[in-house]
Amino acid sequence: MKIVSVVGARPNFVKIAPLLREMRCQSWIMPMLVHTGQHYDQAMSAQFFRDLEIEPPEVNLGVGSASHAAQTAEVMRRLEPVLETTRPDLMLVVGDVNSTLAAALTAAKLGVPVAHVEAGLRSFDRRMPEEINRLLTDAIADLLFVTEESGQENLLREGVAPQKIHCVGNVMIDALELFRPRWAQSAIFDVLKLSPERPYAVVTLHRPSNVDDPGMLSGFMAAFGALAAHLPVIFPVHPRVSSRLRGGEGGQGTRPTGDRTITFLDPMSYLDFIALLSRARLVLTDSGGVQEETTALGVPCLTLRDTTERPATVTYGTNRVIGSDPDRVAPEALRTLADPPAPRGRPPLWDGQAARRIVSVLRQRGVDVTGAEHVRRDLVWVGAGTR
Ligand code: UD1
Repeated sequence: MKIVSVVGARPNFVKIAPLLREMRCQSWIMPMLVHTGQHYDQAMSAQFFRDLEIEPPEVNLGVGSASHAAQTAEVMRRLEPVLETTRPDLMLVVGDVNSTLAAALTAAKLGVPVAHVEAGLRSFDRRMPEEINRLLTDAIADLLFVTEESGQENLLREGVAPQKIHCVGNVMIDALELFRPRWAQSAIFDVLKLSPERPYAVVTLHRPSNVDDPGMLSGFMAAFGALAAHLPVIFPVHPRVSSRLRGGEGGQGTRPTGDRTITFLDPMSYLDFIALLSRARLVLTDSGGVQEETTALGVPCLTLRDTTERPATVTYGTNRVIGSDPDRVAPEALRTLADPPAPRGRPPLWDGQAARRIVSVLRQRGVDVTGAEHVRRDLVWVGAGTR
């Protein structure tokens, strides 16, 4: 089975790492990796490939940054000839970034079946670009791999046929477990002069709704500053935000300046970032992946958004969605520090085995295809020798 996987942005790299590793162990799978180039900085891309032990992609489409329409269209335009030449049996996409949707759409229009890993998540907020990407990708996917119960419920409610949906767990947690021995050795604590006795908080912020409006961003910065009076706050800054901070309150670059200020860092490597999260007293974020990683690590997390598409991190995990009013951040953070949530365990199947389950479904479906009841367009692809 020739499987083309397409990745473009940081969280994609984390999700594809355990999958590629698993696929490469299977003699019946011929995997091929395409990088769209949506993220291209060394710190946003190459460093992740190194940390996650991903071999260089067979193809890099080099699309770079652009408006949503231009970026999505450019991925499609450049990916189409690659798929026409390669003629894969399956397109595998992960997550919810523009590259995910663009790749799924290109494949579907060429009649290549699509598998979506991390299907079914819904924030029910269509102002988020990721929500549009999730809805559309799931609508055209043939196989939908789900990380949590809400994903399955959402897909069934939207009318997706139950036999297309597979609850497999979370490949992001696979990566966290796979690389635990390496991130546990990270030197980041020495670099930042953090001792185990000294509590600290980690902040990440990059959603357009939180950072594009200067008033919102400066409100958040004031809130993080207020929190920094109580414990060191470490803030790895996404490039989207650094340009907005430059000349404002922050400024890019590492500035460890003691307990009463925020330490701004360049985007961190995967291993250092997970290590930093693992010992944090508190994490404040608007990222989807960080909500999941803090749940797996049992670290208290406050989500600076009005919704989450990952409710299992709240019902099972340590996450609390506190909204995006900057004035609420410091009081909620101090309350959580004083009375941290007790970890209640991980969501079902977040055990580091999701990639194995996905590959096993692919294998099973390949065998199933000979069964008469399965003569459907979305199944014909996997049968060896059926083309
Ligand atoms: C994208 C995803 C988001 C994901 C995030 C992870 C979409 C719609 N959004 O958001 O879901 O949570 O990645 O990081 O796909 N930039 C650089 N260097 C890079 C990449 C980006 O400087 O290597 C800057 C550019 O100014 C660019 C901006 O960051 O315009 C935004 O990049 P983009 O990929 O469009 O969206 P993200 O905010 O990274």
